Amino acid sequence: MTASKTLLRGRILDFRAEPQDADDTDAYRYVEDGAILIANGMIKASGDFATVAAQAPDAQVIDHRPHLLMAGFIDTHIHFPQVQVIASWGSQLLDWLNNYTFPEETRFADPGHSAAMAARFYDLLLSHGTTSAVAFCSVHPTSAEAYFGEAARRNMRMIGGKVMMDRNAPDGLLDTPQTGYDESKALIERWHGKGRGLYAITPRFAITSTPEQLDMAGALVAEHPDCFVQTHLSENHDEIAFTRSLYPDAPDYLGIYERYGLLTARALLGHSIHLTPREIDVLAETGAKPVFCPTSNLFLGSGLFDDAGLRGRGITNAIATDVGAGTSYSMLPTLREGYKILQLQNQKLHPLRAFHWITRGNAVALGLQNQIGTLAEGTEADVVVLNANATPAMALRMERAETLSEELFILQTLGDDRAIAQTYVAGQAMKTS
Ligand code: GUN
Ligand code: ZN
Repeated sequence: MTASKTLLRGRILDFRAEPQDADDTDAYRYVEDGAILIANGMIKASGDFATVAAQAPDAQVIDHRPHLLMAGFIDTHIHFPQVQVIASWGSQLLDWLNNYTFPEETRFADPGHSAAMAARFYDLLLSHGTTSAVAFCSVHPTSAEAYFGEAARRNMRMIGGKVMMDRNAPDGLLDTPQTGYDESKALIERWHGKGRGLYAITPRFAITSTPEQLDMAGALVAEHPDCFVQTHLSENHDEIAFTRSLYPDAPDYLGIYERYGLLTARALLGHSIHLTPREIDVLAETGAKPVFCPTSNLFLGSGLFDDAGLRGRGITNAIATDVGAGTSYSMLPTLREGYKILQLQNQKLHPLRAFHWITRGNAVALGLQNQIGTLAEGTEADVVVLNANATPAMALRMERAETLSEELFILQTLGDDRAIAQTYVAGQAMKTS
């Protein structure tokens, strides 16, 4: 019989706003001897250990000292059917899709394969400290069933949807405007708001959808305005040229999604690298969110995301792995490659802002900051336990670290799943490896 209340003890860090640097102390809370009190999957209190412990003398105490407790990481763009595509050699986007990704995704028509891969996918997310993600499934409803079913079994807050794609892909990977609409609608009814699951209407990108299909996707968005929308935008120059040739009347790439009513504040636009001034205006007006995918953008040679330029227009950028074009499930290498991409553009990413980004920042981009992304009372108890001494190189560097910011920067620059000591989902310890 497990105790009904759990108290996690350790150093705690969370955010109230986006910090620009360590002096921005109103934006973050750091408690040296801290604690998180959890009951029924929710955070009941967090703060100073003595104060929080006094509220629940009967709680089971799990002592994680000297580790650092933060809100579980959030990955805002990942492809569930690409767990066996990651690390495929030699091409840029369109060849990579045709040569590796599309053939692999055809396998997810099989419910057995989808279920087996879903279990492996969630094991990987959790061992890397990711407690929520927004995923593209394959075109097959079976893949979305496996994705949401396994998330429900683990009680995880997961967002996703089956991709809608009705052209420019192999036969085994195509729906039609009508079946894409019907299958998506059935999945919304089955999974959106069920437990912690939320649905994302998912036209893959303009190249793989006819105008008729984007029109049907827009109808779904109008009928389900509380659903998310996810797609890809302006990742690669050849992709943009092909897209423009398929939609010659559109003013630009984003204008296609705009015309079909896909741009809500809950729309997530993977990559958004090569944007025109008009497209940036449209992002600012609609509140649609660009998603920065650093390891993917480097791996496919796609380009450099202009974080500061978009932020300067008041646009909220999310950050994500984009596995399987992304090369790590971990949000730590995602931050380190993001840091380098910004360095190439003389833009700065302070480690406090970086860790805000993969927790509360991504939660804000999803409009879920009252549910996930912080350790605030009343939010869901998804917590990651970080060990900045996890490898010999990290431990050696840590001997010279004097500040929290230095520790965070070591975690993001040298860390991976070895730095994740434990991951809690709704208060339950989940890490299996
Ligand atoms: N654009 C359309 N589909 C994909 C995909 O699976 N990965 C990436 N990186 N870009 C895409
Ligand atoms: Zn993607």
